[in-house]
Amino acid sequence: VKLTQEDLKRVAAHRAVEFVEPGMALGLGTGSTAAHALDRLGDLIRAGALPGVAGVPTSLKTELHATRVGIPLLPLGGDRGPARIHLSIDGADEVDPDLNLVKGRGGSLLREKMIEGAGEKFVVIVDESKLVPRLGCTGAVPVEVIPFGAPHTLGLIRKVFDGLPGFHARLRMVKKDADEDTPFTTDNGNYIVEMFFEDGIRGDLHNISDQLLRITGVVEHGMFLSMATSVIVANKDGTITVMD
Ligand code: A5P
Repeated sequence: VKLTQEDLKRVAAHRAVEFVEPGMALGLGTGSTAAHALDRLGDLIRAGALPGVAGVPTSLKTELHATRVGIPLLPLGGDRGPARIHLSIDGADEVDPDLNLVKGRGGSLLREKMIEGAGEKFVVIVDESKLVPRLGCTGAVPVEVIPFGAPHTLGLIRKVFDGLPGFHARLRMVKKDADEDTPFTTDNGNYIVEMFFEDGIRGDLHNISDQLLRITGVVEHGMFLSMATSVIVANKDGTITVMD
């Protein structure tokens, strides 16, 4: 039998859920791969197999999904939030050989980075199509920006990569109606700038990250550097490779 990409996402997600133990506080990821982990967690929780497990959702979509499948939810921080987040499980758009990631093509990068950066372990679940030699090889690297002055901030982002052949950046748009587009808005009410690189990002990723984060209108970007503690890869033949 030939496994579909959806099957592979499920295989990786189910393996990650094996790491969940009773009483754990979890970071709950967003996207089609993380959705399989939510379904699996919900099944186990409803069956009584994971008492005391609760999750901190990385998006409104995940909040709804987790609620629907019966995963108890907690806020990030405060009196009601967990004292520690033991483990986060999430997909990624790209994974490089050093386990650096591109995330946020679904638009949830800010809450993902807050929650996954606050946890003790961050397990990434992908099918092998997400493995890349360099970040930015297969599509956009997203940057969340404040709506105020977004065209100005876009100009400042372009300046970081001034003269880089093949580089371009634009505001992510969505259809408003038949003949009008409108900026895509994140769960936080912000916009997304998409950066495109001809053949991926060459150079010091941490330095590029610092330059982007120094721009005042930039809230966060979708390069998740040195954050993943392991990556579970579902290969085309259904076998699993764990990178850590
Ligand atoms: C959401 O904003 C993203 O960071 C997702 O985690 C990422 O896009 C992976 O999604 P898929 O599992 O749907 O590919």
